[in-house]
Amino acid sequence: MKMPKQGTSKDAIVTQMERYRLADGDAAGSRLFSLVYTTRPDVVEVAKDAYLRFFSENALNPMTFPSLRRFETEVLGMTQELFHAPEGAGGSMSSGGSESLLLAVKTARDWARATRPEIKEPEMLLPITAHPALPKAAHMCGVKIVLVPTRADFTADVEAAKALFTDRTILVVGSAPQYPHAVMDPITDLAALAASRGVLCHVDACFGGFFLPWVEKLGHDVPPWDFRVPGVTSISADLHKYAYTAKGASTIIYRTKALRRHQYFVHADWPGGLFGSPSVLGTRPGGAIAAAWAVMNYLGEEGYLELARQAMSATGKILRGVSETPGLRVLGKPVMSSIAIGTDAAAVPGPTGEGLDLYVLADLMQARGWRVDRGQNPPSLHLTISPAHDALAPKFVEDLRACAREVVDTGVQAQGAAAMYGMLGKLPDRGIVRDALLDFMDGIEAMADTAIDEASRARP
Ligand SMILES: Cc1ncc(COP(=O)(O)O)c(C=O)c1O
Repeated sequence: MKMPKQGTSKDAIVTQMERYRLADGDAAGSRLFSLVYTTRPDVVEVAKDAYLRFFSENALNPMTFPSLRRFETEVLGMTQELFHAPEGAGGSMSSGGSESLLLAVKTARDWARATRPEIKEPEMLLPITAHPALPKAAHMCGVKIVLVPTRADFTADVEAAKALFTDRTILVVGSAPQYPHAVMDPITDLAALAASRGVLCHVDACFGGFFLPWVEKLGHDVPPWDFRVPGVTSISADLHKYAYTAKGASTIIYRTKALRRHQYFVHADWPGGLFGSPSVLGTRPGGAIAAAWAVMNYLGEEGYLELARQAMSATGKILRGVSETPGLRVLGKPVMSSIAIGTDAAAVPGPTGEGLDLYVLADLMQARGWRVDRGQNPPSLHLTISPAHDALAPKFVEDLRACAREVVDTGVQAQGAAAMYGMLGKLPDRGIVRDALLDFMDGIEAMADTAIDEASRARP
């Protein structure tokens, strides 16, 4: 597409945008179990209003917009209190989980450069279930990842971590919880390992940081993960997930301000002026910061507790539904409102003996309007459950049971994308899989067009 010579009317633009979104997932509804954290409309309205009020403001320079500085300081203050950070802790807001994790790894690297200059090739211990933003951060920062295997319950194997620890290790990472199965890594043990060897321990609570405190208050069993655990030196937690704020907002908190200093970048000799930047971005959208502040104040503890109660109620209904569906089971012991569904091959061996084909099940569910993530090693269907799912959970369970029965009874075999996905998951040569992923990414522009055209043909 070329830029139009003359401008287009606002009405025509809106019409075109609405056509483009015909093939989208149900971002505002509750049939999507990934990527969005659907909450009450009034909460969304508060976030949108705050975002638009600060649409043009830029947090690049903390002196030009004192309002943003105040919002950010107060958001970080509330977050530190929630995570039981000690006096002297410090943090930053960032644009999302990936940026917070990049900052955590950059900080660890620069801390090691300053305090352990003998380490020339730094390493970090990372459970295999840690979010890919961490290997990406390590890649960008020149830190080698040493992958820690997990135990049968999908939590990081601390004994293996101990054996993999070397005199080049600068950072130990655990997740609270990890995304693929929503189980908690043994943070107490990982942090103790790090502390006993004098290195840093980062807890990736991007997913759970703004949810676990409420689950704990509701009386559920939540293993320790925050600054109450000795040895935890930093925590990342995303506001744009379970804090229900506008996308583009996350936090990273350090036990000490001295540690946070390694995160900062300054350039004192630029002709454009003295330059200091706390995070990766230069221009930082004021809207995302203002929306986070507004939603946290709008909901308060009671509001978040109520939303957590709803999300946990939905989770309970879905957990029961899965365990009562022949051929399906829940993987591991999820700690919060997210679950991974695996196969129960002992109950339903299926044609291959590996249980029913979950990727076919996901396709059948998608045909009924439900979208879930597809995991691998072992195959799984992943659900991120939001408060808005509570009302529709019984219908979801009903459809899940019907689709599982269809896979078993009709012996539907994987075709097209499901077959390809299953095959790639099992291929021993991961280099081929990496190339296939790159090819997929290269082909994305063409693919988006087809999806929209198909959707607009179906709904002219
Ligand atoms: C545990 C965990 N860490 C990090 C991230 C990355 O967050 P973002 O997508 O905001 O970059 C996610 C995203 O789901 C996550 O679940």
